[in-house]
Amino acid sequence: MITNTEIVRTGNQFPNHIVDFKQENDKFYFTTQNGVILQLTILRDSVVRFRYATEHVFEPDFSYAISEDVNLGYNELKIQDEVPEYIVITSKIKIHINKTNLKVKIVDMADLVISEDELGFHWEENFDYGGNVVKMSKVCHAGESYYGMGDKASHTNLKGKRVNNWVTDTYAYGKDQEPLYKSIPFYIGLKESKAYGIFFDNSFSTYFDFAGERRNVTSYWADGGEMNYYFFYGPKMCDVVESYTDLTGLPELPPLWALGFHQSKWSYYPEQKVRDIASNFRKLNIPCDAIYLDIDYMDGFRCFTWDKNHFPDPKKMIDDLGEDGFKVVTMIDPGIKIDRDYWVYQQAMEKGYFCRRADGPLFKGKVWPGPCNFPDFTHPDVREWWADLYKEMIADLGVSGVWNDMNEPAIMEVPSKTANLDVRHDYDGHPCSHRKAHNVYGMQMVRATYEGIKKYMFPRRPFVLTRAAYSGTQRYCATWTGDNVATWEHLWIANVQMQRMSMSGYSFVGSDIGGFAEQPNGELFARWIQLAVFHPFCRVHSSGDHGDQEPWSFGDEITDIVREFIELRYQLLPYLYTMFYNYIKEGFPMLQSLVFYDQDDVQTHFRTDEFIFGKQLLVCPVQEPNSLGRRMYFPKGNWYNYWTDEMVEGGVERWVSAELDRIPLFVREGAMIPKYPVQQYVGEKEIEKLAIDVYFKSGTENSEVYEDHQEGYDYKKGRYSLRRFKFTGKENELIIQQFKDGNYITPYHNFVMTFHGLPFEIDSVELDNEEVGLDEIKLNGNNTIEVSKDFTELHIFGK
Ligand code: NOJ
Repeated sequence: MITNTEIVRTGNQFPNHIVDFKQENDKFYFTTQNGVILQLTILRDSVVRFRYATEHVFEPDFSYAISEDVNLGYNELKIQDEVPEYIVITSKIKIHINKTNLKVKIVDMADLVISEDELGFHWEENFDYGGNVVKMSKVCHAGESYYGMGDKASHTNLKGKRVNNWVTDTYAYGKDQEPLYKSIPFYIGLKESKAYGIFFDNSFSTYFDFAGERRNVTSYWADGGEMNYYFFYGPKMCDVVESYTDLTGLPELPPLWALGFHQSKWSYYPEQKVRDIASNFRKLNIPCDAIYLDIDYMDGFRCFTWDKNHFPDPKKMIDDLGEDGFKVVTMIDPGIKIDRDYWVYQQAMEKGYFCRRADGPLFKGKVWPGPCNFPDFTHPDVREWWADLYKEMIADLGVSGVWNDMNEPAIMEVPSKTANLDVRHDYDGHPCSHRKAHNVYGMQMVRATYEGIKKYMFPRRPFVLTRAAYSGTQRYCATWTGDNVATWEHLWIANVQMQRMSMSGYSFVGSDIGGFAEQPNGELFARWIQLAVFHPFCRVHSSGDHGDQEPWSFGDEITDIVREFIELRYQLLPYLYTMFYNYIKEGFPMLQSLVFYDQDDVQTHFRTDEFIFGKQLLVCPVQEPNSLGRRMYFPKGNWYNYWTDEMVEGGVERWVSAELDRIPLFVREGAMIPKYPVQQYVGEKEIEKLAIDVYFKSGTENSEVYEDHQEGYDYKKGRYSLRRFKFTGKENELIIQQFKDGNYITPYHNFVMTFHGLPFEIDSVELDNEEVGLDEIKLNGNNTIEVSKDFTELHIFGK
């Protein structure tokens, strides 16, 4: 990381008055007398890009973050040329550009200020490296709050904090530690209940100060590159996150097994150990879909090789595990051992694919295998070569997924923990030093991995996991939050990180359950599992230094609790898959902090612990030892306690009991929560009936269930089933209407509905306007009915 003191500073420079203006379709150029050009591009009515050049020269326009599939187009665009300022007007916002100093102010259609420059754009020339240190400062208004920024281990509301984005291997990081593994320079501002977002698309080391240094100022700056940022107007937080996610892209659906439970450790070997772990899951009836092989499966830590002593026949092992419903996920690191007898090294040397230092020598760094060279993943030919290296592992041996680790890149025994800053990169035809390429290095590695796995898995879906990430990496893979610690504080951190990542466009995320470093006791492990079954990626991983960390490692009581919660995850798979569908369809984050759920309620602005899972479940982990429950805040609406059906009205904070076998979990009234039977792995059972938990409400509520083949790409051709349910509850009746979309035929036609909080006794039932006998629908007490028809309307009358 470059510290500010290393840069020779010449003092800030500022744009002066505008001397020239021109418009080219959706682009406006404002040029100042001292050579600054502001290029303003309207992407959508509520999405605007700001780029600033100094000395009249823009850098080539290239970014790894921006998706090829971004939605562009606006309804309205005009500009007014007035005495003190220009005003660019869309159907959602007005952008004022001051003619004397180029400062920008953005207001909504009612002229409420959403965001305004304080000093605005300014810069310092960088004599050591050339170019500028580019800076922006905005006014922080009273009561303004800030969210987002990826994996930061700080309070969800970033007000008062300074953060740095420089992807870093941070073993056993702590609360508030900066920087961490990811660079996601995107934040959401919330001012007077209106949300907006800023994405500073700059891959250099970037800094954000949220009214930390000066109370009324929020600023961001970078060690090089351009002041190039996108502004997203809400006014709902949901609009902001969806617009940012649309701009930086979305993944495809993962195979459903990737949403199951995964077990990992550094490392499971030899082969017999892997087999023993797998069979213990089945013996103890604890569902599990994947087992991970960490670096020790390799021959001397050489990527794409196997240690034949420990794994004499990997294909046989993988096949056998597959028979039992397990997928195998293997690790691949970026460092290639310098070894003249090693084929990967030989190929990269022959092709000239390794990174070089500024003066020509190969860049060398120590990692697990000792001295290594590093492929330049920012070169398209290198990515193509890298993708093909996976052929044997995936196509021949049957590995189902790959995790890319240490891809910051992490380098041992050097103070910077990473590559030297003078290392050269192709940057897809924009040659540059590591200062610029560092934050995207891991992203480009995992992009290449994804291409390879996708190619060799076809027609099945790939599963890839990364540690390092820059904005946009969500298009390729899932991610985890690196080397956390088995402490209660880290349980808090995991909860915050998952919410924050999700609201930063990256939903497919999880933590090392139980903690990577050190060892949890049974209580901490159980509490962590209870939280993590509500995280999109659910995997136990540990360093293995301090003992075992499997579900059965902490005695029978804990094993039973862990089993119950993993079973709950498998029951909720259709709900979770539907969440994933909404994420890839609209960019709707799978987890949301309460402020996202109700930004008008100021009580939510500083809440960290409670979050919404999907759209209808409210979760709040227990984060302290020896707890019998905890206080939590209920946002607006009425909530059923999942365990007791007791109803809680929103807008209050209150005590909730949760002994060691319970997590505070609430369901929004009116919700229809789909469930599958418990399976030991995805696909173990044919789904014969869809169970739906129906939570009565006076009024209406919409719920959905997305399903498909759970694998493959047919869903892209319309082979999916999306059931939308509209629930309407009245004093003495309830109506459930079903609207169906897609042409995948689900294997079941029956619905087993269990009613919660039904205020009346069922008297009669009509299915699609025809009365059916109560014996026909197997009324069980007053709670459960079985509907044996894919109905469009279910009408229940009370006595
Ligand atoms: C660091 C990773 O973060 C961790 O998950 C892994 O077990 C070790 N590297 C060893 O590969």
